Amino acid sequence: MRIGVFDSGYGGLTILDAIRKRLPQYDYLYLGDNARAPYGTRAFETIYHYTLSAVQYLQEQGCRLIILACNTASAKALRTIQQHDIDPSIVRVLGVIRPTVEAVRSHHIGILATPGTVASESYVIELRKQYMEQNGTIADLTISQQACPMWVPLIEAGEHQGKGADYFVDKYLSALMAQDPLIDTILLGCTHYPLLLPKIQAWMGSSPVRIVCQGEIVAESLADYLDRRTEIERDLSRKGTCLFLTTESPDKFEKFATFFGTIKSQKVEFKS
Ligand code: DGL
Repeated sequence: MRIGVFDSGYGGLTILDAIRKRLPQYDYLYLGDNARAPYGTRAFETIYHYTLSAVQYLQEQGCRLIILACNTASAKALRTIQQHDIDPSIVRVLGVIRPTVEAVRSHHIGILATPGTVASESYVIELRKQYMEQNGTIADLTISQQACPMWVPLIEAGEHQGKGADYFVDKYLSALMAQDPLIDTILLGCTHYPLLLPKIQAWMGSSPVRIVCQGEIVAESLADYLDRRTEIERDLSRKGTCLFLTTESPDKFEKFATFFGTIKSQKVEFKS
């Protein structure tokens, strides 16, 4: 059995890459819904419907463990899918928000994410809960959020290394830091955003602000999950392969994904 990894587009490749480095022995099935990306600017019902169709597709392909390598889907659809749409004795669906929150240790936190993730307040709720448990108060906790609606379209269009991206990197980072100049930790709360990391780091210059990317965090959390769920782990196949599926053009997908090595992809279409 392969581990399914899903994202609206290319962003989940940043998570898959880290997972495959940490757990190279397993087989993976990556699904990018590039034809319908971005998700982050869409309504709750749409994100839920798209995510559910992807989960069902991966399940039909035999995946019994599926990672939503997408914050927007994790924030907007994960809980509903877990509670209403799947039988956990048949398939497990995991998100990326909880493990990321557990890796953050600060009380001046900045979050960069899609409009959908920001509006869901998922990070704010989870970070407050964790801080309260650890400190007994949230009085000194400051969380600032900035939606970056143009970053995913730039990345999906392959424009993230170009000069045009500089404008929007400056726009959203300036807006975030203006909310709280004491921010010492910036969480990249969208799996696409590490693709903009060189520009983000260049904008930060010599600032000591910690930039948190999710790949290694999610990979470590999955390794820990599998250590504790031997009944799932023993069913995973181990040839170290990965099959890539996209709802858009395989040519375009393969060209983009060269960033992560040479890959072959196939086009899929969902029933709905
Ligand atoms: N990569 C996704 C995330 O982590 C969503 C991007 C999008 O489709 O807007 O939020």
